[in-house]
Amino acid sequence: MSLPARVRIVEVGPRDGLQNEAAPVATCDKIALIDRLSATGLDCIEATSFVSPKWVPQLADAADVMAGIRRRDGVAYPVLVPNLQGYERARAAGADQVSVFSAASDAFNRRNTNAGVDESLARFAPVVERAAADGVRVRGYVSTVLGCPYQGEVPVAEVVRVAAALHAMGCREVSLGDTIGVGTPTAARAMLRAVADAVPMPALAVHFHDTYGQALANVLACLEEGVRVVDAAVSGTGGCPYARGASGNLATEDLVYMLHGMGIETGVDLDALVDTGAWLAGILGRQTSSRVTRARRGS
Ligand code: HMG
Ligand code: MG
Repeated sequence: MSLPARVRIVEVGPRDGLQNEAAPVATCDKIALIDRLSATGLDCIEATSFVSPKWVPQLADAADVMAGIRRRDGVAYPVLVPNLQGYERARAAGADQVSVFSAASDAFNRRNTNAGVDESLARFAPVVERAAADGVRVRGYVSTVLGCPYQGEVPVAEVVRVAAALHAMGCREVSLGDTIGVGTPTAARAMLRAVADAVPMPALAVHFHDTYGQALANVLACLEEGVRVVDAAVSGTGGCPYARGASGNLATEDLVYMLHGMGIETGVDLDALVDTGAWLAGILGRQTSSRVTRARRGS
């Protein structure tokens, strides 16, 4: 399969990145981050999540973040919701796109949401139904698609089943997440190929964490397989608080550098993104995980 002329990036840093920070990040800094990201040309920025604040206190200020951001025309600001209660909070805060999330591993899903996979799918049905009535676009995540921190191996058939269920329910896009970053390109390619037999490729996205340094290689394998939507987090922040050993997401700067270097358009200004990544690293008080930002900044 030939490579695409353009790839759509879904920036998940403000949500997947900041949900895993040990030290609190000020609401004004979260707002500034999102506004800086939207100024780089990114047109889909997952802004926060309306999960239980007891489970993820890092994002308890979700409504204030939504109220504070400067919404740019043409930019979508989806938010994560785990249930109808989260959907209602998200809508009250002005969200017009939401994401629901399940997993290909029951063991992980129970730790992450206190529900088995099938129970979580049943929870989403009314959310997706309400969203359809409200004209709200829904994305679905499947986590642990290439390995689980609790059960180990994850059968590809289970990834296919959950992805197909989310799509059939009405999720317009299904993002396949290697939550703990254990996958390699052959496994990523085989998994995507199997899912694409059940869900049309244009409705699929990939979401890699870079724990073992495989994320860009996995993205390339999946682009060759036909995927056109890739998730990433500025500065390589993130991880799931309920996935032991999960480290950062693929850094958006590194993804953009690779794609532009290969002649693939993203609509993103890499210099502005590097500035934002370096700024965020300063806010978080540590070195960025982005190799590109480190190389450009000589650190
Ligand atoms: P639970 O404790 O079973 O919930 O949690 P419950 O329905 O029994 O309710 C218990 C309490 O929580 C009640 O309050 C509810 O009102 C409240 P109380 O009566 O005790 O005062 N509650 C809520 N409050 C605010 N907003 C809500 C909400 N729902 C219930 N939406 C629940 C179940 C799903 C809520 C919880 O487990 C949860 O919030 N989990 C989210 C964990 C999470 O956010 N993990 C990270 C995201 S997933 C991820 O990172 C992977 C991904 O990036 C892809 C990848 O990387 O592969 C997507
Ligand atoms: Mg993630």
